[in-house]
Amino acid sequence: MKNGYESRRLLDQYLLFHYGSAEQILQGSHLDWQPDHEGLHFSVATVFSTLIFDLISEKQEGSLRALDVGCAVGRSSFELSRLCGEVMALDYSQAFIHAAQQLQQGQPMRVMRYGEGQVGSELDVSLPTGVAAERIKFEVGDAMNLREDLGSFDLVHAANLLCRLSEPMRFLERLPALVKPGGQLVLATPCSWSEEFTPLENQPSGTTLDLIRSSLGEAFELKRELELPFVIRDHARKFQISTSQTTVWLRK
Ligand SMILES: C[S@@+](CC[C@H](N)C(=O)[O-])C[C@H]1O[C@@H](n2cnc3c(N)ncnc32)[C@H](O)[C@@H]1O
Repeated sequence: MKNGYESRRLLDQYLLFHYGSAEQILQGSHLDWQPDHEGLHFSVATVFSTLIFDLISEKQEGSLRALDVGCAVGRSSFELSRLCGEVMALDYSQAFIHAAQQLQQGQPMRVMRYGEGQVGSELDVSLPTGVAAERIKFEVGDAMNLREDLGSFDLVHAANLLCRLSEPMRFLERLPALVKPGGQLVLATPCSWSEEFTPLENQPSGTTLDLIRSSLGEAFELKRELELPFVIRDHARKFQISTSQTTVWLRK
């Protein structure tokens, strides 16, 4: 299976996206965005702007099991560790998982932030304060072929993963078994389907939400729908600005 997420350039880009402060991400750009622009904090927002906290009792907190699929370099997994006693964090990229593990051990990661061409400046990123890093197990894994003994989870989070899969249905079909009754599922996707990742015959024939709805079927109830912006720096004069259709589902 093809996965372009092993390169140093994408590793740098995702480390900056997940762990860089607004000032670090925007350094040298001519955009006059405010540091609290939501798109600069996407991997925190997919956890804390999505979950329905009224459905989580205080006594559950700390004993919750969470699964973060397609976790990349791990920021949302670290955010989930603030709430959950155990977090399984999986990604297909060895380079991304290795970086997440290095951060977990308290070691900063050096990042190249590009200005233009190959010119840029280096900076270090490290874990945000207050996370419970020891609660997370990072692992290389395939969302379309998850190991059978993962068990089930109170929270399942998959951000910007679906349209990067060659066979998205294989992941969607596994979800009812992965989420415990009463548990929550967060699916965020910019619906950026491309043959680079997903053959045409495996892309939705209608909307992505219709595909998700029909495959989650009777097992889930749609509780919340929102659009979360995200901003990824290519270089000082080029930023990818997108929004991710984010749905929160309750397992019946
Ligand atoms: C667009 S990135 C999103 C990462 C992160 N969740 C975020 O919101 O920033 C897609 C991620 O999915 C991972 N990925 C691609 N195919 C995968 C697969 N079959 N199983 C698990 N992860 C996969 C990539 O390595 C990459 O880290």
